[in-house]
Amino acid sequence: MVPGTFFLALASVTGNGERGIRSHAGYTMDSDFEQYLRTRLEDWRSNGLDRRIREVSHRKAPSTMELGGRTVVDFSSNDYLGLAAHRGIQEAAAQASGTDGMGSRASRLISGSLESFRRLEDSISQWKRREAAIYFSSGYQTGVSLFSAIAEKGDIILMDRLIHACLIDGARLAECPWRTFRHNCMADLERKLAALSEDAGFKGRVFVATEGLFSMDGDEGDLRGLVELKRKFPFVLVVDEAHSGGITGPCGRGLAAREDVESQVDISMGTCGKAMGVAGGYVAGSSSLIEWLKQKARGWMFSTAPPPAIAAALLKSIEILSSGEGDRLRRKLLENISAFHASMGTSGPSCSPIIPYIVGDEKAAIDLQERILGQGYFVGAVRYPAVPKSRARLRITLSAAHSREQILGLTAALRKLGSQPGS
Ligand SMILES: Cc1ncc(COP(=O)(O)O)c(C=O)c1O
Repeated sequence: MVPGTFFLALASVTGNGERGIRSHAGYTMDSDFEQYLRTRLEDWRSNGLDRRIREVSHRKAPSTMELGGRTVVDFSSNDYLGLAAHRGIQEAAAQASGTDGMGSRASRLISGSLESFRRLEDSISQWKRREAAIYFSSGYQTGVSLFSAIAEKGDIILMDRLIHACLIDGARLAECPWRTFRHNCMADLERKLAALSEDAGFKGRVFVATEGLFSMDGDEGDLRGLVELKRKFPFVLVVDEAHSGGITGPCGRGLAAREDVESQVDISMGTCGKAMGVAGGYVAGSSSLIEWLKQKARGWMFSTAPPPAIAAALLKSIEILSSGEGDRLRRKLLENISAFHASMGTSGPSCSPIIPYIVGDEKAAIDLQERILGQGYFVGAVRYPAVPKSRARLRITLSAAHSREQILGLTAALRKLGSQPGS
């Protein structure tokens, strides 16, 4: 690929429609740009990095899906508690769309904010034990909006190297520099914090971000280590509880609650499409933080509010997470995690439903995924850029909805077809 072709191609799309080729949809695409895209796709494919979007006919049952005309067990979703197919949540959603319609019609700033979103945000803040909360239509939008709203010129953002893309993208949009520290390495972070405190020219704020449970490796963020560092250096601590929310801590409040450091986490963010079984994301924190985000968070201000059905579904989901049913589902998930490790003879983090099965080579990971699918089990295959190059893996996710038989079936297939996780 010749550097600069991209810009040339774009210029000719806008400047010279006659050189374009007409597709069956009647759309004229510049031929250089089209050729450029084809070459890039070919490179992408030949490196084993192309994504195949599989069409799922139905997901009627909590732990299975219909794929390619047959029913397979789903070990790829983030529905850790099986709430995506919960009858009570479905009914709450159906009732709300009957009352308030399907679409929300506009941004909450423009067209008024439905009462159910205020109730949802109150419910999130009570559940998370924070003064206030703000709800976004996706976890990605939450992450991408956060730093671009709160970090200003002169500040700096330090993030764990394995932090999710949404926080990286948000940091890219912020008007200040961002750096990473080695994954869960408090010594590396301490060195960076010490250098900033010794830099007489640095007068800004420091933001430090990590995750409760890392999405691709399934290990926990070192929240206690971070809180220790907070005693030595001033910084604003941000924890993304996307994968730990719902599954751990009292009422599923997350890792900070389980580790008893909740009050030291300044900004708690999470997603509602994983253990909560619905969709969206939130930030929970002080009233001023949330008020500021409502003034400045672009993913909230400039986007149509999610459907009213989602707010109703999430209110029900939080009610379940905080109830005895939530406790029972979390216990079942832990039993399933133990059953998996006992059967594989492995000892991954005992509370993590995310099990990385490292394959290394990108094409080999896809090949193993296909062979396991042949046995009736669908697992995710994760490759660059979601993980570093040559660290491709199967990402196996367990749920409270899985039966013991389903888990033992998967482990038997893995033993037959693959090597040990983490090898
Ligand atoms: C750690 C983390 N944060 C945020 C997100 C984004 O959440 P959503 O899928 O709701 O957009 C994800 C998604 O996988 C994630 O893993």
